[in-house]
Amino acid sequence: SLEKSLRPRYLAQYIGQDKVKQELSIYIEAAKNRQEALDHVLLYGPPGLGKTTMAMVIANEMDVQIRSTSGPAIERPGDLVAILNELEPGDVLFIDEIHRLPRVAEETLYSAMEDYYVDIMVGQGPTAHPVHFPLPPFTLVGATTRAGMLSAPLRDRFGIISHMEYYEEEDLREIVLRSADIFQTEIVEEGAIEIARRSRGTPRIANRLLKRIRDFAQVQSDGMIDQRIADQALGLLQVDGAGLDYVDQKLLKTMIELYHGGPIGLSTLAVNIGEERETVEDMYEPYLIQKGFIKRTPRGRVATPLAYEHLNYPYQT
Ligand code: ADE
Repeated sequence: SLEKSLRPRYLAQYIGQDKVKQELSIYIEAAKNRQEALDHVLLYGPPGLGKTTMAMVIANEMDVQIRSTSGPAIERPGDLVAILNELEPGDVLFIDEIHRLPRVAEETLYSAMEDYYVDIMVGQGPTAHPVHFPLPPFTLVGATTRAGMLSAPLRDRFGIISHMEYYEEEDLREIVLRSADIFQTEIVEEGAIEIARRSRGTPRIANRLLKRIRDFAQVQSDGMIDQRIADQALGLLQVDGAGLDYVDQKLLKTMIELYHGGPIGLSTLAVNIGEERETVEDMYEPYLIQKGFIKRTPRGRVATPLAYEHLNYPYQT
């Protein structure tokens, strides 16, 4: 599909995340030279920064197959054994949202990661008995929005822990140009810069906005994306000049109008804007904190003077 072809397949095609790429390229080359499985990798960082893509890139670079699942999809240890059972030597097992793995399944992973075997109980009551499953050497790639959400025993079993950062504007510009090329969409440099500047440091958002702006350019103009068309479309999409979307703006306005800028607890804030607490914590808050619109204090979240200024509210202490 179109979606799939947007994903880079090798490290050399992967734009941004230079530190992660630099480290991984060394560990990958070393493991390949020794003809061993790559050590287990934990990728953590906000959603949309390319953790799944990086897992696929790792498998391609290692020249092995990838099997994918997610924390919530695994309910019992047996679900995990079923997927572990399919692994060939050196394969990558990708577990997205690994922090949502049920505790019993997580405990099954410990011996799998450390010594490539699992012991599980089969049967019930008096016929219940342990069964020992040897596994081939494999690489677990886990993805999570925050490493702090993982239990220490699980976190400690990853030999490689990589933090994915929000992308620089320059990297996002390059990603937008690459995606536009794949879409066969005409775009000028300034159009790509405008999209990059207003994508919250996130390739997934940049690519989504690109698709919508391309529709807009096609219908309202001659199909060419320039800065003016990008700006008009982004206005229609309620993405403001700092790249804040409707929910970001609503969140800040709620803090200012209803709570005098805070401090306000995260759960209260989430209820007020009709979002899950986890969504606010993983998707919205990290970017607003990084941009200096929100501060975390021991008593709750506080809107900064910058937030007041950005939304045109008078700031009084
Ligand atoms: N598309 C989405 N993210 C990308 C990245 N980091 N590099 C290249 N293309 C991408």
